[in-house]
Amino acid sequence: MEKKRKPPVRGLEGIVAADTRLCYVDGQNGKLYYCGYDIDELAGRVCFEEIVHLLWGGGLPDLDTLDDWRPQLVAEMRLPAQVLDLLRMAPPGANPMVLLRTAVSALGLWDPDGGRNSLPANERKARRILAQVATIVAAIYRLRQGEPIITADKSLGFAANFLYMFHGKVPSKQDQAVFDTLLVLHADHGLAASTFAARATVSTLAGMHSAIAAALASLKGPLHGGANTRVMEMLEDIGDAKRVKAYVDGMLSSGQRIMGFGHRVYKTEDPRSRHLRRFSQKLSKRARTKALLEISSQIERHVLEKKGIFPNVDFYSATVQEALGIPKEYFTCTFAIARTAGWIGHVLEQFTDNRLIRPTSNYTGGFGKKFVPVAKR
Ligand code: COA
Repeated sequence: MEKKRKPPVRGLEGIVAADTRLCYVDGQNGKLYYCGYDIDELAGRVCFEEIVHLLWGGGLPDLDTLDDWRPQLVAEMRLPAQVLDLLRMAPPGANPMVLLRTAVSALGLWDPDGGRNSLPANERKARRILAQVATIVAAIYRLRQGEPIITADKSLGFAANFLYMFHGKVPSKQDQAVFDTLLVLHADHGLAASTFAARATVSTLAGMHSAIAAALASLKGPLHGGANTRVMEMLEDIGDAKRVKAYVDGMLSSGQRIMGFGHRVYKTEDPRSRHLRRFSQKLSKRARTKALLEISSQIERHVLEKKGIFPNVDFYSATVQEALGIPKEYFTCTFAIARTAGWIGHVLEQFTDNRLIRPTSNYTGGFGKKFVPVAKR
Protein backbone atom coordinates (compact mmCIF):
# COMPACT_ATOMS: atom_id res chain seq x y z
CA MET A 1 0.00 0.00 0.00
CA GLU A 2 2.76 2.47 0.92
CA LYS A 3 4.73 3.67 -2.09
CA LYS A 4 8.42 4.44 -1.96
CA ARG A 5 8.59 8.14 -1.15
CA LYS A 6 10.75 10.80 -2.73
CA PRO A 7 11.83 13.35 -0.13
CA PRO A 8 10.05 16.68 -0.59
CA VAL A 9 12.09 19.66 -1.75
CA ARG A 10 11.99 21.80 1.37
CA GLY A 11 10.73 25.27 0.60
CA LEU A 12 10.43 24.18 -3.08
CA GLU A 13 13.98 25.44 -3.52
CA GLY A 14 15.06 25.23 -7.15
CA ILE A 15 11.69 23.87 -8.35
CA VAL A 16 10.56 25.43 -11.62
CA ALA A 17 6.81 26.12 -11.32
CA ALA A 18 6.18 28.44 -14.29
CA ASP A 19 7.57 29.98 -17.43
CA THR A 20 7.57 33.74 -17.17
CA ARG A 21 8.65 36.57 -19.42
CA LEU A 22 8.40 39.07 -16.57
CA CYS A 23 11.40 38.82 -14.35
CA TYR A 24 14.69 36.96 -13.97
CA VAL A 25 16.71 36.86 -10.78
CA ASP A 26 20.31 35.85 -11.52
CA GLY A 27 21.37 34.91 -8.03
CA GLN A 28 24.92 33.90 -8.90
CA ASN A 29 25.81 37.19 -10.56
CA GLY A 30 23.57 39.46 -8.49
CA LYS A 31 21.55 40.65 -11.46
CA LEU A 32 17.85 41.34 -11.86
CA TYR A 33 15.99 41.74 -15.15
CA TYR A 34 12.47 42.99 -15.89
CA CYS A 35 11.32 41.68 -19.30
CA GLY A 36 14.93 41.59 -20.49
CA TYR A 37 16.02 44.98 -19.07
CA ASP A 38 18.76 45.02 -16.44
CA ILE A 39 17.51 46.74 -13.26
CA ASP A 40 20.79 48.68 -13.15
CA GLU A 41 19.81 50.28 -16.47
CA LEU A 42 16.29 51.06 -15.28
CA ALA A 43 16.84 52.30 -11.71
CA GLY A 44 16.68 56.09 -11.61
CA ARG A 45 15.94 56.34 -15.35
CA VAL A 46 12.33 55.17 -15.53
CA CYS A 47 9.24 55.98 -13.53
CA PHE A 48 7.03 53.36 -11.89
CA GLU A 49 4.29 53.83 -14.52
CA GLU A 50 6.74 52.77 -17.23
CA ILE A 51 7.54 49.59 -15.33
CA VAL A 52 3.86 48.84 -14.81
CA HIS A 53 3.32 49.22 -18.56
CA LEU A 54 6.28 46.92 -19.18
CA LEU A 55 5.21 44.23 -16.70
CA TRP A 56 1.63 44.22 -17.96
CA GLY A 57 2.71 43.33 -21.46
CA GLY A 58 2.91 46.71 -23.16
CA GLY A 59 6.70 47.14 -23.31
CA LEU A 60 8.41 50.35 -22.24
CA PRO A 61 6.07 53.13 -23.39
CA ASP A 62 7.12 56.04 -25.61
CA LEU A 63 6.40 59.57 -24.36
CA ASP A 64 2.93 59.82 -25.91
CA THR A 65 1.88 56.44 -24.53
CA LEU A 66 3.24 57.37 -21.11
CA ASP A 67 1.37 60.69 -21.16
CA ASP A 68 -1.79 58.74 -21.81
CA TRP A 69 -1.04 55.89 -19.38
CA ARG A 70 -0.10 57.91 -16.28
CA PRO A 71 -3.48 59.69 -15.91
CA GLN A 72 -5.29 56.41 -16.53
CA LEU A 73 -3.70 55.02 -13.35
CA VAL A 74 -4.08 58.21 -11.33
CA ALA A 75 -7.77 58.43 -12.32
CA GLU A 76 -8.37 55.13 -10.53
CA MET A 77 -6.95 56.36 -7.21
CA ARG A 78 -10.31 56.66 -5.51
CA LEU A 79 -12.03 54.26 -3.19
CA PRO A 80 -15.63 53.13 -2.87
CA ALA A 81 -17.24 54.86 0.14
CA GLN A 82 -17.93 51.44 1.68
CA VAL A 83 -14.22 50.60 1.70
CA LEU A 84 -13.43 53.91 3.36
CA ASP A 85 -16.09 53.09 5.97
CA LEU A 86 -14.42 49.73 6.54
CA LEU A 87 -11.08 51.47 7.15
CA ARG A 88 -12.77 53.82 9.61
CA MET A 89 -14.32 50.89 11.50
CA ALA A 90 -11.05 49.01 11.96
CA PRO A 91 -9.53 48.72 15.44
CA PRO A 92 -7.08 51.62 15.86
CA GLY A 93 -4.14 49.31 16.51
CA ALA A 94 -4.73 46.95 13.57
CA ASN A 95 -1.63 46.02 11.59
CA PRO A 96 -1.76 48.15 8.40
CA MET A 97 -0.94 45.11 6.25
CA VAL A 98 -3.87 43.19 7.73
CA LEU A 99 -6.10 46.14 7.03
CA LEU A 100 -4.77 46.52 3.49
CA ARG A 101 -5.39 42.82 2.81
CA THR A 102 -8.91 43.10 4.22
CA ALA A 103 -9.65 46.25 2.23
CA VAL A 104 -8.46 44.64 -1.03
CA SER A 105 -10.84 41.73 -0.39
CA ALA A 106 -13.61 44.26 0.19
CA LEU A 107 -12.73 46.15 -3.01
CA GLY A 108 -13.74 43.02 -4.92
CA LEU A 109 -17.26 43.31 -3.52
CA TRP A 110 -17.79 46.71 -5.11
CA ASP A 111 -15.70 46.35 -8.24
CA PRO A 112 -17.90 46.61 -11.36
CA ASP A 113 -15.89 43.75 -12.92
CA GLY A 114 -15.80 41.77 -9.67
CA GLY A 115 -16.78 38.33 -11.00
CA ARG A 116 -15.31 38.57 -14.52
CA ASN A 117 -12.01 37.11 -15.67
CA SER A 118 -12.05 38.18 -19.34
CA LEU A 119 -8.95 40.01 -20.55
CA PRO A 120 -10.67 43.44 -20.84
CA ALA A 121 -12.20 43.02 -17.37
CA ASN A 122 -8.84 41.96 -15.95
CA GLU A 123 -7.11 44.94 -17.55
CA ARG A 124 -9.63 47.32 -15.98
CA LYS A 125 -9.31 45.60 -12.60
CA ALA A 126 -5.52 45.70 -12.88
CA ARG A 127 -5.49 49.50 -13.15
CA ARG A 128 -8.07 49.90 -10.39
CA ILE A 129 -6.44 47.54 -7.91
CA LEU A 130 -2.94 48.99 -8.31
CA ALA A 131 -4.18 52.56 -7.91
CA GLN A 132 -6.53 51.70 -5.04
CA VAL A 133 -3.87 49.82 -3.08
CA ALA A 134 -1.82 53.04 -2.97
CA THR A 135 -4.86 55.05 -1.86
CA ILE A 136 -5.78 52.52 0.83
CA VAL A 137 -2.30 52.69 2.39
CA ALA A 138 -2.39 56.49 2.44
CA ALA A 139 -5.96 56.48 3.81
CA ILE A 140 -5.08 54.09 6.66
CA TYR A 141 -2.30 56.44 7.73
CA ARG A 142 -4.37 59.62 7.40
CA LEU A 143 -7.25 58.17 9.41
CA ARG A 144 -4.87 57.08 12.17
CA GLN A 145 -3.37 60.55 12.28
CA GLY A 146 -6.86 62.01 12.56
CA GLU A 147 -6.23 63.87 9.31
CA PRO A 148 -8.59 64.21 6.37
CA ILE A 149 -8.20 61.79 3.48
CA ILE A 150 -6.62 63.43 0.43
CA THR A 151 -7.80 62.92 -3.13
CA ALA A 152 -5.17 62.22 -5.80
CA ASP A 153 -3.92 65.19 -7.79
CA LYS A 154 -4.25 64.66 -11.54
CA SER A 155 -1.19 66.78 -12.21
CA LEU A 156 1.08 64.39 -10.29
CA GLY A 157 2.39 60.95 -11.21
CA PHE A 158 1.86 57.71 -9.27
CA ALA A 159 4.76 57.93 -6.82
CA ALA A 160 4.26 61.64 -6.11
CA ASN A 161 0.55 61.06 -5.61
CA PHE A 162 1.15 58.39 -3.02
CA LEU A 163 3.43 60.69 -0.99
CA TYR A 164 0.96 63.54 -1.47
CA MET A 165 -2.01 61.46 -0.27
CA PHE A 166 0.08 60.10 2.63
CA HIS A 167 1.71 63.27 3.93
CA GLY A 168 -0.87 65.78 2.72
CA LYS A 169 1.64 67.93 0.86
CA VAL A 170 3.24 67.72 -2.56
CA PRO A 171 6.62 66.03 -2.08
CA SER A 172 9.90 67.62 -3.10
CA LYS A 173 11.35 66.60 -6.46
CA GLN A 174 14.03 64.60 -4.65
CA ASP A 175 11.49 62.68 -2.55
CA GLN A 176 9.37 61.97 -5.63
CA ALA A 177 12.38 60.62 -7.50
CA VAL A 178 13.59 58.47 -4.59
CA PHE A 179 10.17 56.99 -3.91
CA ASP A 180 9.58 56.40 -7.62
CA THR A 181 12.79 54.39 -7.86
CA LEU A 182 11.98 52.54 -4.64
CA LEU A 183 8.73 51.43 -6.31
CA VAL A 184 10.62 50.43 -9.47
CA LEU A 185 13.09 48.34 -7.45
CA HIS A 186 10.31 46.49 -5.61
CA ALA A 187 7.98 45.95 -8.59
CA ASP A 188 8.71 42.30 -9.31
CA HIS A 189 11.00 39.51 -8.20
CA GLY A 190 10.32 36.19 -9.89
CA LEU A 191 8.37 33.56 -8.03
CA ALA A 192 8.67 35.04 -4.55
CA ALA A 193 6.30 33.43 -2.04
CA SER A 194 3.65 36.13 -2.50
CA THR A 195 3.80 35.91 -6.30
CA PHE A 196 3.49 32.14 -6.14
CA ALA A 197 0.46 32.61 -3.86
CA ALA A 198 -1.10 34.97 -6.41
CA ARG A 199 -0.49 32.59 -9.31
CA ALA A 200 -1.73 29.54 -7.37
CA THR A 201 -4.87 31.46 -6.42
CA VAL A 202 -5.85 32.44 -9.96
CA SER A 203 -4.90 29.02 -11.27
CA THR A 204 -8.23 27.88 -9.75
CA LEU A 205 -9.89 30.67 -11.81
CA ALA A 206 -10.53 32.69 -8.66
CA GLY A 207 -10.34 36.39 -9.53
CA MET A 208 -7.71 39.08 -9.33
CA HIS A 209 -8.87 40.56 -6.00
CA SER A 210 -8.55 37.12 -4.39
CA ALA A 211 -5.06 36.72 -5.85
CA ILE A 212 -3.86 40.09 -4.57
CA ALA A 213 -5.39 39.44 -1.14
CA ALA A 214 -3.55 36.08 -1.02
CA ALA A 215 -0.32 37.74 -2.11
CA LEU A 216 -0.70 40.44 0.56
CA ALA A 217 -1.23 37.75 3.19
CA SER A 218 2.03 36.14 2.14
CA LEU A 219 4.03 39.35 1.82
CA LYS A 220 3.20 40.37 5.38
CA GLY A 221 5.40 37.68 6.98
CA PRO A 222 8.81 38.70 8.38
CA LEU A 223 10.67 36.24 6.16
CA HIS A 224 9.26 38.13 3.15
CA GLY A 225 8.08 41.77 2.93
CA GLY A 226 7.57 42.10 6.68
CA ALA A 227 11.36 42.13 7.10
CA ASN A 228 11.70 45.87 6.37
CA THR A 229 9.70 46.86 9.47
CA ARG A 230 11.81 44.47 11.55
CA VAL A 231 14.97 46.03 10.15
CA MET A 232 13.95 49.43 11.51
CA GLU A 233 13.06 47.86 14.86
CA MET A 234 16.54 46.34 14.96
CA LEU A 235 18.25 49.63 14.02
CA GLU A 236 16.31 51.40 16.76
CA ASP A 237 17.08 48.64 19.24
CA ILE A 238 20.80 48.92 18.53
CA GLY A 239 20.64 52.71 18.72
CA ASP A 240 24.40 53.31 18.43
CA ALA A 241 26.97 52.03 15.91
CA LYS A 242 29.23 51.06 18.83
CA ARG A 243 26.73 48.43 19.90
CA VAL A 244 26.49 46.67 16.51
CA LYS A 245 29.05 43.91 17.04
CA ALA A 246 27.69 42.83 20.40
CA TYR A 247 24.11 42.94 19.15
CA VAL A 248 24.77 40.95 15.96
CA ASP A 249 26.96 38.42 17.78
CA GLY A 250 24.23 37.98 20.39
CA MET A 251 21.59 37.41 17.72
CA LEU A 252 23.69 34.93 15.78
CA SER A 253 24.87 32.99 18.80
CA SER A 254 21.27 32.54 19.94
CA GLY A 255 20.32 31.27 16.47
CA GLN A 256 18.28 34.32 15.47
CA ARG A 257 18.14 35.76 11.98
CA ILE A 258 19.31 39.21 11.12
CA MET A 259 16.41 40.83 9.35
CA GLY A 260 17.12 42.25 5.89
CA PHE A 261 19.91 39.72 5.25
CA GLY A 262 20.12 36.55 3.20
CA HIS A 263 18.11 35.45 0.23
CA ARG A 264 16.89 32.21 -1.33
CA VAL A 265 18.20 33.14 -4.79
CA TYR A 266 20.99 35.73 -4.40
CA LYS A 267 24.28 34.22 -3.40
CA THR A 268 25.98 37.58 -3.77
CA GLU A 269 24.90 41.20 -3.39
CA ASP A 270 21.24 41.93 -4.16
CA PRO A 271 21.40 44.68 -6.82
CA ARG A 272 18.33 46.39 -5.31
CA SER A 273 20.12 46.76 -2.02
CA ARG A 274 23.04 48.48 -3.79
CA HIS A 275 20.68 51.13 -5.22
CA LEU A 276 18.89 51.61 -1.93
CA ARG A 277 22.20 51.96 -0.07
CA ARG A 278 23.14 54.71 -2.52
CA PHE A 279 19.82 56.46 -1.87
CA SER A 280 20.22 56.31 1.89
CA GLN A 281 23.69 57.84 1.46
CA LYS A 282 22.16 60.61 -0.66
CA LEU A 283 19.57 61.31 2.01
CA SER A 284 22.03 61.14 4.89
CA LYS A 285 21.71 64.81 5.74
CA ARG A 286 18.21 64.15 7.05
CA ALA A 287 17.48 64.05 10.77
CA ARG A 288 17.97 60.38 11.69
CA THR A 289 19.32 59.03 8.40
CA LYS A 290 23.02 59.56 9.08
CA ALA A 291 22.93 57.67 12.37
CA LEU A 292 20.80 54.86 10.92
CA LEU A 293 23.13 54.59 7.96
CA GLU A 294 26.15 54.34 10.21
CA ILE A 295 24.55 51.51 12.18
CA SER A 296 23.46 49.84 8.93
CA SER A 297 26.95 49.96 7.42
CA GLN A 298 28.43 48.38 10.55
CA ILE A 299 25.80 45.64 10.52
CA GLU A 300 26.45 44.96 6.85
CA ARG A 301 30.19 44.67 7.41
CA HIS A 302 29.86 42.48 10.50
CA VAL A 303 27.19 40.11 9.13
CA LEU A 304 29.20 39.57 5.94
CA GLU A 305 32.29 38.81 7.99
CA LYS A 306 30.51 36.44 10.39
CA LYS A 307 27.97 34.70 8.12
CA GLY A 308 29.02 35.52 4.56
CA ILE A 309 25.54 36.84 3.73
CA PHE A 310 24.51 40.11 2.09
CA PRO A 311 21.73 42.61 2.69
CA ASN A 312 18.56 42.09 0.67
CA VAL A 313 16.08 44.68 -0.61
CA ASP A 314 14.52 45.18 2.81
CA PHE A 315 17.66 46.29 4.61
CA TYR A 316 18.31 49.75 3.13
CA SER A 317 14.69 50.22 2.14
CA ALA A 318 14.03 50.77 5.85
CA THR A 319 16.42 53.74 6.09
CA VAL A 320 15.24 55.20 2.78
CA GLN A 321 11.59 55.03 3.78
CA GLU A 322 12.36 56.52 7.18
CA ALA A 323 14.07 59.42 5.41
CA LEU A 324 10.91 59.92 3.36
CA GLY A 325 8.91 60.30 6.58
CA ILE A 326 7.12 56.95 6.28
CA PRO A 327 6.66 55.31 9.71
CA LYS A 328 8.00 51.76 10.01
CA GLU A 329 4.54 50.19 10.40
CA TYR A 330 3.89 51.18 6.76
CA PHE A 331 7.13 49.95 5.17
CA THR A 332 5.64 46.61 4.12
CA CYS A 333 2.57 48.38 2.73
CA THR A 334 4.71 50.50 0.41
CA PHE A 335 6.51 47.33 -0.69
CA ALA A 336 3.03 45.93 -1.40
CA ILE A 337 2.06 48.94 -3.54
CA ALA A 338 5.04 48.32 -5.79
CA ARG A 339 4.76 44.53 -5.86
CA THR A 340 1.06 44.74 -6.76
CA ALA A 341 2.34 45.67 -10.24
CA GLY A 342 4.34 42.44 -10.41
CA TRP A 343 1.59 40.28 -8.89
CA ILE A 344 -0.88 41.58 -11.45
CA GLY A 345 1.62 40.96 -14.28
CA HIS A 346 1.93 37.35 -13.10
CA VAL A 347 -1.83 36.96 -12.73
CA LEU A 348 -2.35 38.20 -16.31
CA GLU A 349 0.38 35.85 -17.48
CA GLN A 350 -1.10 32.89 -15.56
CA PHE A 351 -4.47 33.49 -17.20
CA THR A 352 -2.94 33.33 -20.69
CA ASP A 353 -1.89 29.69 -20.26
CA ASN A 354 -3.53 28.47 -17.11
CA ARG A 355 -3.31 25.04 -15.57
CA LEU A 356 -4.39 24.38 -11.98
CA ILE A 357 -1.36 24.63 -9.67
CA ARG A 358 -1.63 21.57 -7.52
CA PRO A 359 1.58 19.99 -6.23
CA THR A 360 1.61 16.83 -4.21
CA SER A 361 2.92 15.82 -0.80
CA ASN A 362 4.32 12.81 1.00
CA TYR A 363 1.74 11.35 3.33
CA THR A 364 3.17 10.64 6.77
CA GLY A 365 -0.03 9.93 8.70
CA GLY A 366 0.06 6.11 8.64
CA PHE A 367 -2.59 3.55 7.56
CA GLY A 368 -4.86 0.90 9.07
CA LYS A 369 -5.81 2.69 12.28
CA LYS A 370 -8.89 1.20 13.88
CA PHE A 371 -11.85 3.61 13.94
CA VAL A 372 -13.57 4.06 17.30
CA PRO A 373 -16.93 5.95 17.44
CA VAL A 374 -16.84 9.17 19.43
CA ALA A 375 -18.78 7.82 22.41
CA LYS A 376 -16.27 5.00 22.85
CA ARG A 377 -12.99 6.93 22.49
N1 COA B 1 20.47 35.83 9.50
C1 COA B 1 21.25 34.85 9.92
N2 COA B 1 21.46 33.72 9.23
C2 COA B 1 20.85 33.59 8.06
C3 COA B 1 20.01 34.59 7.55
C4 COA B 1 19.84 35.73 8.31
N3 COA B 1 19.07 36.72 7.88
N4 COA B 1 19.55 34.18 6.36
C5 COA B 1 20.07 32.98 6.12
N5 COA B 1 20.85 32.62 7.16
C6 COA B 1 21.61 31.39 7.27
C7 COA B 1 20.77 30.27 7.85
O1 COA B 1 20.82 30.23 9.24
C8 COA B 1 21.42 29.09 7.22
O2 COA B 1 22.63 28.85 7.88
P1 COA B 1 23.11 27.37 8.22
O3 COA B 1 23.25 26.70 6.88
O4 COA B 1 24.37 27.60 8.95
O5 COA B 1 21.99 26.79 9.02
C9 COA B 1 21.77 29.57 5.83
O6 COA B 1 21.95 30.96 5.95
C10 COA B 1 20.72 29.27 4.79
O7 COA B 1 19.46 29.73 5.27
P2 COA B 1 18.05 29.19 4.79
O8 COA B 1 17.07 29.41 5.87
O9 COA B 1 18.19 27.78 4.26
O10 COA B 1 17.77 30.12 3.57
P3 COA B 1 16.37 30.30 2.87
O11 COA B 1 16.64 30.42 1.44
O12 COA B 1 15.40 29.26 3.29
O13 COA B 1 15.85 31.67 3.51
C11 COA B 1 15.40 33.92 3.87
C12 COA B 1 15.86 32.87 2.86
C13 COA B 1 15.22 35.25 3.14
C14 COA B 1 14.06 33.50 4.47
C15 COA B 1 16.44 34.07 4.97
O14 COA B 1 17.64 34.53 4.42
C16 COA B 1 15.99 34.96 6.11
O15 COA B 1 15.33 34.50 7.04
N6 COA B 1 16.31 36.27 6.07
C17 COA B 1 15.84 37.22 7.05
C18 COA B 1 14.46 37.72 6.68
C19 COA B 1 14.50 38.63 5.49
O16 COA B 1 15.30 39.54 5.42
N7 COA B 1 13.58 38.40 4.58
C20 COA B 1 13.44 39.22 3.38
C21 COA B 1 13.86 38.46 2.17
S1 COA B 1 13.87 39.49 0.74
